Amino acid sequence: MVRPQIAPSILSADFARLADEIAVIGSTADWVHVDVMDGHFVPNLTLGLPVVQALVKSSPIPLDVHLMIEDPDRWATSYAEAGAGSVTFHVEAAAAPVRLARDLRSAGARAGMALRPATPVEPYVDLLPELDMLLVMTVEPGFGGQAFLDVVLPKIRRARQAIGDGAVWLQVDGGINAETIERCADAGADVFVAGNAVFGADDPAAAVERLREAATR
Ligand code: DX5
Ligand code: ZN
Repeated sequence: MVRPQIAPSILSADFARLADEIAVIGSTADWVHVDVMDGHFVPNLTLGLPVVQALVKSSPIPLDVHLMIEDPDRWATSYAEAGAGSVTFHVEAAAAPVRLARDLRSAGARAGMALRPATPVEPYVDLLPELDMLLVMTVEPGFGGQAFLDVVLPKIRRARQAIGDGAVWLQVDGGINAETIERCADAGADVFVAGNAVFGADDPAAAVERLREAATR
């Protein structure tokens, strides 16, 4: 098993102090997870390309951009060109996911593809070689601080079976805390997004370490 990676989500951070908040977790986290929401694909609106461009310049660790937007075919590649280390689009919103994944890689980013809780993994197994990461959502996307959906655990296991020990990372996002992270790791996930469990903690940097330890157990 590879070393588990932790990607704190700045959705739970103070948006008026993003650079400071990222600096706090910069020494313990592997990625900073940036949730881009357009108010259409999900019923919430967060931030977009100009803020990501600014964060690329100021962050000591690479950006893991999670696009919860309509028409990622049109918008996603600009996030890769901006310097995000990883860009994840939702397959439910993509018209041509293979072309888009190839475009993201050509622009220098890792290509990620996300599945909402009710989206099955089986139709997309043949696409895995085009991807660097598969994101299995463990809440309905749109908001931080929601409760983990147990119902998704079997899909994480099936996704791990399909990936095998391959190069594709398996990320989970939503309701991840010291308890649920163990179950996700047991099911085969290896990259863990956590918003509330990190930025809601008194010591976010230590919370990242605790999550990684729990994922390793
Ligand atoms: C939800 C976002 C998540 C969210 C996770 O739509 O994609 O990244 O910030 O937050 P927590 O860990 O609080 O559920
Ligand atoms: Zn996310």
